[in-house]
Amino acid sequence: MIRTRIAGTGSYLPEKVVTNQDLEKRIDTSDEWIRERTGIRRRHVAAEGETTSDMAVQAARRAMDAAGVSADDLDLVVVATTTPDKVFPATACIVQRKLGMAGGAAYDIQAVCSGFVYALDAADRYIRTGGGRNVLVIGAETMSRILDWDDRSTAVLFGDGAGAVVLQASDTEGIISTHIHSDGSLEETLHVPYGVSTGYDTLCGGKAFIVMQGNAVFRKAVSMLGEIAHETLDGNGIKKKELDWLVPHQANMRIITAAAKKFGLPMDRVVVTVDEHANTSAASIPLALDIAVRDGRIKRGELLLLEAFGAGLTWASALIRY
Ligand code: COA
Repeated sequence: MIRTRIAGTGSYLPEKVVTNQDLEKRIDTSDEWIRERTGIRRRHVAAEGETTSDMAVQAARRAMDAAGVSADDLDLVVVATTTPDKVFPATACIVQRKLGMAGGAAYDIQAVCSGFVYALDAADRYIRTGGGRNVLVIGAETMSRILDWDDRSTAVLFGDGAGAVVLQASDTEGIISTHIHSDGSLEETLHVPYGVSTGYDTLCGGKAFIVMQGNAVFRKAVSMLGEIAHETLDGNGIKKKELDWLVPHQANMRIITAAAKKFGLPMDRVVVTVDEHANTSAASIPLALDIAVRDGRIKRGELLLLEAFGAGLTWASALIRY
């Protein structure tokens, strides 16, 4: 039986840092408000001309080094992103070119903040059914380019970055199960109201920015995360005391704390990095995973629960023996 293991992780944050104090100078907000309501202290912002694929490649190279694979070893690249370089081709194809990967396949997945876990789901099924042996899965975002920096209800929440994993076919336990959900009836709780077919220029003059009903997203996120955590553990006959780490989508400290509390998991078993990079959408889980692997918190053989939620609304989880 073919299984899928994480062979290596990597991440990248752009050099430019925007602190809460920097935002205080531009909008009517305060460091205290942002920290209390979100736990965020700073976010990284892509340099002028730096694109989603540039950040994806940086994270990918680190994950490939950690896994000991080269571009020639890769069968597939999947990029989860909401902020592609171009309308087409897929950002994954641009990453494929930049990595110098001669063969294989590449495509993008769009499930907003749940995108990385959706991509894990697809890549795991591809490997298990014999599609290929090495798959690069990346979450990468330039959220700064779809933010209205004068709208305090969203500008304080998001940042740019990328995270990646190399998945490899294995005969030992790795990804145990993945679970994905969506509810399109909740489309307008969190969205960018314009796109290619609705017309950027005519409707919004190119100003296609994030619009959010913050309270509704908060409540839904906490209940969806609670439900999917139970679905994942119950589906595998695993008790929560067996879990070593919860690696949640890094959207907001209050959502992470409320979800962990509802699930009955102590915070010392929850990976939290949102203070350092804010919500990087599809990049947030692989970023948190890589940070916790590299600082020694997450060790080989430990049991991880990844859980995400985002626009769609979408929500997703993965149970993984690292
Ligand atoms: N700085 C200062 N004050 C702000 C502010 C900011 N950046 N943003 C909003 N406020 C104000 C509001 O105007 C409001 O003022 P009022 O009481 O005078 O009307 C007050 O703070 C409370 O606003 P409210 O929206 O009720 O705050 P909240 O406690 O719900 O917190 C969020 C707002 C956005 C932090 C919270 O709803 C949240 O975390 N939602 C989920 C967002 C998220 O994670 N989205 C991504 C999902 S992938």
